[in-house]
Amino acid sequence: MNLRTGDDGLAAESGPLLVQLDALSKSYSEAGQEKCVLEAVDCSFQVGQFICLLGKSGSGKSTLLNLISGIDRPSEGRVIIRENGRQVELTALRERQRTLFRRRNIGIIFQFFNLIPTLTVLENVALPVELAGTDRIGHGRAAELLERVGLGNRLDSFPDRLSGGEQQRVAIARALVHDPVLLLADEPTGNLDEGTGEDILNLLLELSRGAGKTLIMATHDQDIAGLADAVYVLERGKLVSQPTGLSNGTGGNRADTAAGE
Ligand SMILES: Nc1ncnc2c1ncn2[C@@H]1O[C@H](COP(=O)(O)OP(=O)(O)OP(=O)(O)O)[C@@H](O)[C@H]1O
Ligand SMILES: [Mg+2]
Repeated sequence: MNLRTGDDGLAAESGPLLVQLDALSKSYSEAGQEKCVLEAVDCSFQVGQFICLLGKSGSGKSTLLNLISGIDRPSEGRVIIRENGRQVELTALRERQRTLFRRRNIGIIFQFFNLIPTLTVLENVALPVELAGTDRIGHGRAAELLERVGLGNRLDSFPDRLSGGEQQRVAIARALVHDPVLLLADEPTGNLDEGTGEDILNLLLELSRGAGKTLIMATHDQDIAGLADAVYVLERGKLVSQPTGLSNGTGGNRADTAAGE
């Protein structure tokens, strides 16, 4: 781990780091047996990078994203996120505080879009800013983002009237509307045909890179991983490969993905 530890016990910055994972583990007990699905994951992600979490089905990708977002809590270990020059130990916060932190700082895109069917496209996108209490800017920015994802003419449509690709465009706009420091995407093209998936990926990269966002994407697709600045490979809950040389802040190193599919 390329981090110094400060007096406060949190890691001090030695580069433009955004997320630090310290010995992160997750276990479930099933039929009286302890099942470890994530084992002592140690890594850190830099500001502005497109990071891929690569691994087969069941390797722990979604579990790891849910821990980074604070939706779920680890059995052991810490998640630390830098925002506004502060370091927040997400894993030390109570659920309510984690939810508030997520609403302000993290945007999430899911494989199955997760739009609210009873809200219009515009209302879906504006929802995060309304929940975060900054709804004054909500609808204007939501409409602007919908324009940017090519849906400026569908603001009043309901999600079930849209194609899968269009629904994912709405989800991308929703993930960006509160200007989060961190974007998490869980197989965002996994439910789309190849051409639409490519369009969505390009749109997501354009919008996140253009705004200097850090994007962490779970995928089992080697081709997508080939576009990433950094690739981390998970196998049965263990990080088996990660880029080297992050201590000098260069980034851009690819993992040896031989461990992938
Ligand atoms: N609530 C739970 N109780 C028990 N086991 C769970 C639970 N949630 C996840 N798991 C297990 O954790 C492991 C990792 O699951 P996870 O969903 O993180 O995998 P994944 O890499 O995202 O897979 P996929 O590519 O299919 O989405 C799996 O073996 C899964 O069965
Ligand atoms: Mg998953």
